[in-house]
Amino acid sequence: MIAGVDLSVAPESLDQSTATTVLARLADVLAQANTDYHGADAPTISDADYDALKRYNAALEAAFPNLKRKDSPSDVVGAPVSDGFGKVKHAVRMLSLANAFDDEDVTDFDDQIRKFLGLGDDAPLAYTAEPKIDGLSLSLRYEQGILVQAATRGDGETGENVTENARTIADIPQTLKDAPAVLEVRGEVYMSHADFDALNARQSEKGGKTFANPRNAAAGSLRQLDSAITAARPLLFFAYAWGETSTPIADLQSGAIEQLAAWGFSTNPLTQICAGPSALLQHYRKIEQQRASLGYDIDGVVYKVDDLALQRRLGFRSTTPRWAIAHKFPAELAWTRLKGIDIQVGRTGALSPVARLDPVTVGGVVVSNATLHNEDYIRGIGGNGAPIREGRDLRVGDWVQVYRAGDVIPKIKDVDLSKRPDDAVPYLFPDHCPECQSAAIREEGDAIRRCTGGLICPAQAVEKLKHFVSRAAFDIEGLGAKQVEAFYHDPDLAVKQPADIFTLARRDAANLTKLKNRDGWGDTSAANLFQAIDDKRKIPLTRVLFSLGIRHMGENGAAILARHYGSWDHFAQAMDNAKIGQGASWDDLTGIDGVGAVMAASVITTMQQPAERASIDALIAELDVQDVAAPATDGSPVAGKTVVFTGTLEKMTRAEAKARAEALGAKVSGSVSAKTDILIAGPGAGSKAKKAADLGVETIDEDAWLDLIGDA
Ligand code: IVH
Repeated sequence: MIAGVDLSVAPESLDQSTATTVLARLADVLAQANTDYHGADAPTISDADYDALKRYNAALEAAFPNLKRKDSPSDVVGAPVSDGFGKVKHAVRMLSLANAFDDEDVTDFDDQIRKFLGLGDDAPLAYTAEPKIDGLSLSLRYEQGILVQAATRGDGETGENVTENARTIADIPQTLKDAPAVLEVRGEVYMSHADFDALNARQSEKGGKTFANPRNAAAGSLRQLDSAITAARPLLFFAYAWGETSTPIADLQSGAIEQLAAWGFSTNPLTQICAGPSALLQHYRKIEQQRASLGYDIDGVVYKVDDLALQRRLGFRSTTPRWAIAHKFPAELAWTRLKGIDIQVGRTGALSPVARLDPVTVGGVVVSNATLHNEDYIRGIGGNGAPIREGRDLRVGDWVQVYRAGDVIPKIKDVDLSKRPDDAVPYLFPDHCPECQSAAIREEGDAIRRCTGGLICPAQAVEKLKHFVSRAAFDIEGLGAKQVEAFYHDPDLAVKQPADIFTLARRDAANLTKLKNRDGWGDTSAANLFQAIDDKRKIPLTRVLFSLGIRHMGENGAAILARHYGSWDHFAQAMDNAKIGQGASWDDLTGIDGVGAVMAASVITTMQQPAERASIDALIAELDVQDVAAPATDGSPVAGKTVVFTGTLEKMTRAEAKARAEALGAKVSGSVSAKTDILIAGPGAGSKAKKAADLGVETIDEDAWLDLIGDA
């Protein structure tokens, strides 16, 4: 009971007259709360109670739309809103999808799933196929059938709380009948072409901001601090997935979609069950044909394994499910003129040529730059040494065909030689770094020319800093690419390496010209920045490893290493001990599933290079690096153990066994060493079994393993 309203009574169970009374009471209480909040020093009810009452009011209005009051609290603008969106940690991570670009990628997807599950070529394996909506994903949390929270995807772990805004979307039910006690429904918020055109027309009429495409318009509309603005924007929602559910909602993906539709969600009418790759491809072509007339943007077709028990067995890679893939449509194309070629120097010293183009619209977005990859690419030579564009080179002044697919940087597909100006000359790729003039060399077998300046090259240093503050790395609020670049060049702030970010406040206090007195800064913004930096001293190991920007180690690699070594000290010690190509530390490192020799050598080289290491150590000294929490493996008999599989497994494939062991908190290694706790040896086990016996490592067979983990 809050302020005389009993929130435990389901709104739809009330009769009309009680509902009218309760709505009147709610209007009263909430109006009073608003006045108190804005006018008095002491608000009469807590924010949480206020939110709960407001939610109940909305649910009640949804159940009795005819009783909605003229002075409904849902329509009140100026209710307590924060100056930004609150953060919501997703109960179940919101993942992205791996991509398929051609038919072969789709048959490979099916092959890999069969291989993982140990299914023969002829075993039945059904999929669903549905359009990939080009909008932004949203997670809706229902408790006891009432919408209590809506959150954007954010970085997949944590999103933004956009509950009030989501409530204004007509496609999103406020209440659900007969739903599990906890249910998170996920789907895509999007805008139709017609609504997008009308919105842009309205915006430009009143001199407001227009949007480049419907997706930007949808995102901009959902992320409004004032929900009255969102309410005025025509947003739509398709449900296609779910997060946490207190009880399973179906046995099949297709069944779950039917259930979502039964609860009142819009689901995509082009969703279909397909018996295998050829049916998937057939449905893909059908959707592709209808694409232009759908009235909203889609950028591909998503395939998902239909059987949810199989989805569970297949599980996830670090950021994508194994049981789904997005088959993208081919990119859109446009012709324009190549005005010039600039060279950018990346954080690992790579000299990347960038095409400067006469601006041209490709798929609704204005493109004025495109990547040219490397010098061979400009010359008409592909990655494998074979000709591309039938060997035609690219010259400044040429007419080129540009394409983009999804969010990827635009690329150049072709060149029209009939339009080549007479004075166009072959492009001469620089052999010195344009930023620090150090020699730029190309190593044997590498298509990329790299600056040899290392830490003395300002371009590399700035790019390293930009990477360091990027979203998947330190993600410091108020410190983006623009700021680190300015701080790098500012002689007083002198942020030359990541550690300098963490000494900035101390150094600024001693400086005569303070940050707060600079253009674009003030007392509050400077104090906020120092606070935001301090907040990131405590940081998970995965982020630290990724932030180092080591060549060949991406987010996935960083996550794998963090999971394996568990703490910074273990990692650093192992890298100190490691020798490239030999010894126990090398074997241990390259034995990790997902770590190849190239990445291993790159990590070791960086960690052992004295100047690089000094910079890394200076950073670590400023941080409180959080060890990797073991996965939630309560009661798991193998949590924290290192296990090795060898020989033939008969009950599941090697890949599935590995994934299962990792989910139970075990580390799976490819080679036996003194650190191995258990060797699981199937028939045909050879040298690994012998080595385990020599080292006294416990060796068991597959059945004993399944007994141990309770899967027998
Ligand atoms: S399923 C665990 N189905 O595509 C996978 N996603 O590239 C859950 N998207 O973040 C996603 N249409 O925003 C799925 N029919 C569809 C989709 C879809 C659009 C978006 C979604 C996701 C992104 C991944």
